[in-house]
Amino acid sequence: MNKALSIFIGVLISSGAFAQSDPNLGIIPVPVSITKANGSFILDKTTILVNQSIDGAKMADLLNAFIVNKAGFALREAKITQQNQKSIVLTSVGAEKLPAEGYTIKVTPTQIILTGKGAGLFYAVQSAMQMMPAKVADKITIPAVNINDYPRFGYRGTMLDVSRHFFPISFIKKYLDQLAYYKINTFHWHLTDDQGWRLEIKKYPKLTSVGSSRNGTIIGNYPGNGNYLTEVKGFYTQDEAKEIVKYAAERYITVIPEIELPGHASAAIAAYPELSCFPDRDTFISDKTPWSGSRKGKQVQQTWGVFDDIFVPSENTFTMLNNILDEVIAIFPSKYIHIGGDEAPKTYWKESPFCQALMKEKGLKDEHELQSYFIQTIEKHVNAKGRSIIGWDEILEGGLAPNATVMSWRGEDGGIAAAQQNHDVIMTPGSMGLYIDHKQSNSPDEPVTIGGFAPYQKIYGYDPIPKVLTADQRKYIKGVQANMWTEYIKTPEKAENHAFPRIMALSEIAWGQVERKDLKNFSEERLPAHLARLDKMNINFWVPTPIGQSDKPLTGGDFTIDLKVPVTGAKIYYSLDGSRPSENAFLYTEPIKVTVPQGEKRTLKTIVVVPSGRRSVTTETIMNNGAPEVKAEAKK
Ligand code: ACM
Repeated sequence: MNKALSIFIGVLISSGAFAQSDPNLGIIPVPVSITKANGSFILDKTTILVNQSIDGAKMADLLNAFIVNKAGFALREAKITQQNQKSIVLTSVGAEKLPAEGYTIKVTPTQIILTGKGAGLFYAVQSAMQMMPAKVADKITIPAVNINDYPRFGYRGTMLDVSRHFFPISFIKKYLDQLAYYKINTFHWHLTDDQGWRLEIKKYPKLTSVGSSRNGTIIGNYPGNGNYLTEVKGFYTQDEAKEIVKYAAERYITVIPEIELPGHASAAIAAYPELSCFPDRDTFISDKTPWSGSRKGKQVQQTWGVFDDIFVPSENTFTMLNNILDEVIAIFPSKYIHIGGDEAPKTYWKESPFCQALMKEKGLKDEHELQSYFIQTIEKHVNAKGRSIIGWDEILEGGLAPNATVMSWRGEDGGIAAAQQNHDVIMTPGSMGLYIDHKQSNSPDEPVTIGGFAPYQKIYGYDPIPKVLTADQRKYIKGVQANMWTEYIKTPEKAENHAFPRIMALSEIAWGQVERKDLKNFSEERLPAHLARLDKMNINFWVPTPIGQSDKPLTGGDFTIDLKVPVTGAKIYYSLDGSRPSENAFLYTEPIKVTVPQGEKRTLKTIVVVPSGRRSVTTETIMNNGAPEVKAEAKK
């Protein structure tokens, strides 16, 4: 296999058979418009593949490799096509009239024409792969259709925190493959925090020699018990980071690095204590935290939390941070550099005679204005290098830096305020389901998480444009992002479980037009085949509960419970006797009829098992026919 093919190997497994009746042809995110035409294109060994676009050679290879996998043969690649020659054509002719990142797909009985340029053509190929049904007798029959598609938002992001736990380059690449498949175009890489500094900085080697390892993790501490002495370490060399930037760019994904300041900086301060207001002061750790022992010197934090020790706004700090940012800017060509800005406690700044004197000298009325001064000083440097800053919504406090983009995470208020001040905004409110470290159901079977509740349906239901904004202000909402914080996510497998299917729901609200939203079609028609594809590729995911099962109590005497599998090829097992279902329970084959005698209730418990053996949490439906409420036992 040549290099171009191996580059894209991660997306080549076919998506399995989507329902032929699906008006959206199994495509996620949903295209702007799909119009059925007459007839169909029969893809067979006589079909040729023609690339007529400047940047389409790798994409043609990608499509051909996909067809090898799907159909069992490769298409002959050619430069031109004759009339009536069955062909798939990649072209940029006419693409200049399309919106940014837009594409069209025209399927006729003789041709499939994919039109777009750059990202647009790449996305045309992603959609073409998703809409191809399974082969029948060495032929793939694709219904004639016209697709017109372009994104709702130019910024479609996901954030991965690699500070709380370190994730290897191999996983980052595997993740990027999937992001590209779902037309996510921004990977926000949270590289520094209290619990680890993960990027090599040549001028300050202690950032990684000291700042990239800690002797404990919060896993098991909050909530839970034990397991806190696990070492966590690791960092990316600059060469590795560049490799990720290149790998992402080949998939039309921009990598935005985040260097946290002025708070969440314990790892940097542990390496260079002079970055603190109080270089000699011990880091305070509550005596109640059993894993911390006594008060410690500057350290890479073992526990989750917000720590008082933050950067001192001194000349020395700004020189160091500017030097660090210069190295970061040299690695990452992104327009944006994320400078954090969240959760910076002001305690040390209040106590520091240096900070108080600085505030007086600069005429800053409180520590919020000092924070704004800090961010604006950094912004000037970043702007001078031709880049722009993004910060979490706390950067509004004390006054926004003139050119800053705001990432709204504490609900939508920060984003609304920023848009009202004519600043660009990325919406990522945790309260709306965009924190994909939160749990996906209320079942006790869920793995331990930091808390919160963010099933994929909650993301799906979110509209990133707040209604309170005027038409003019709405244009400042540049996009939407899902964040994965990893205090409780130690392994790539668990990260994947948190990511999917929520990334698919994200892609639907980030790319798809709001009037095309259709949760039922998404969950019941398209998602099952996409999850089956992940299963075949050995990518972990959260297995949804059976379609049609209520997790709310039902009342009545006679029930017919009609269920569908949420993953193509999965099986549903159930019990009605209170036991936890496994593969030894009843296999669901037809609607379950249940009669509940007057005054009694029954509980249906189900589990979904997908072909690889991955399973859902247990879902319970109580069917109550007037049974008396059982009072909770009084606490002893
Ligand atoms: C954040 O979740 N602290 C941005």
